[in-house]
Amino acid sequence: MESATPVIVAIDGPSGTGKSSTSKAVAAQLGLSYLDTGAQYRAITWWMVNNGIDIDDPSAIAAAAGKPEIVSGTDPQAPTIFVDGVDVAGPIRTQEVTSKVSAVSAVPEVRARITELQRSLAASAEHGIVVEGRDIGTTVLPDADLKIFLTASPEARAARRSGELKGADVHSTREALIKRDAADSSRKTSPLAKADDAVEVDTTDLTLAQVIECVVTLVEEKRAGK
Ligand code: DC
Repeated sequence: MESATPVIVAIDGPSGTGKSSTSKAVAAQLGLSYLDTGAQYRAITWWMVNNGIDIDDPSAIAAAAGKPEIVSGTDPQAPTIFVDGVDVAGPIRTQEVTSKVSAVSAVPEVRARITELQRSLAASAEHGIVVEGRDIGTTVLPDADLKIFLTASPEARAARRSGELKGADVHSTREALIKRDAADSSRKTSPLAKADDAVEVDTTDLTLAQVIECVVTLVEEKRAGK
């Protein structure tokens, strides 16, 4: 029975490419689990901010990296994220967390901690999982069955993000996105990067439905052994 074999799908790319919407929909459509790894980095950042850790001090972040308990729910219809038993799905999306997450996620001890969580969730997903992030295909799950790298022009990405942020200024959203991508792409430990064996999908001129259909087809082809 082909569907008995769990399938691991890695979806990477910068923000505003439709990664989350696509990953969730593909997982729901194919009966797979779903993991938003950005939410995990946001959750640990939220904990650092709330516990008075100096975000400009990587050694302080490293020393605290093992402290918070981070639990991700992997149902694509209702993904959840808890830190020390607190539901942080809302608080991790604030501007404060968004502006600090690149600094926190650049610390190797943070990445080691979160990567371990990600690997154990992927290994325990009964039917398989769609994992979205920045370094999934390159570092976290280099043996994933299928790797997708989503891209889009900076203009398209900023327009989508400011739409999500209910009309935030497109120009400043674009500047903030470019800054965060540059930080995420240039860090030493597992930067945002396309794996050599990833399929690149440019979403600039595609609707969300088209991107979902494209990825679903790629997963189905993989499962059929094409
Ligand atoms: O996908 P997002 O915007 O919620 O991710 C928030 C930040 O988390 C992003 O700026 C970089 C970091 N991140 C990472 O370093 N590695 C991942 N696999 C996912 C996210």
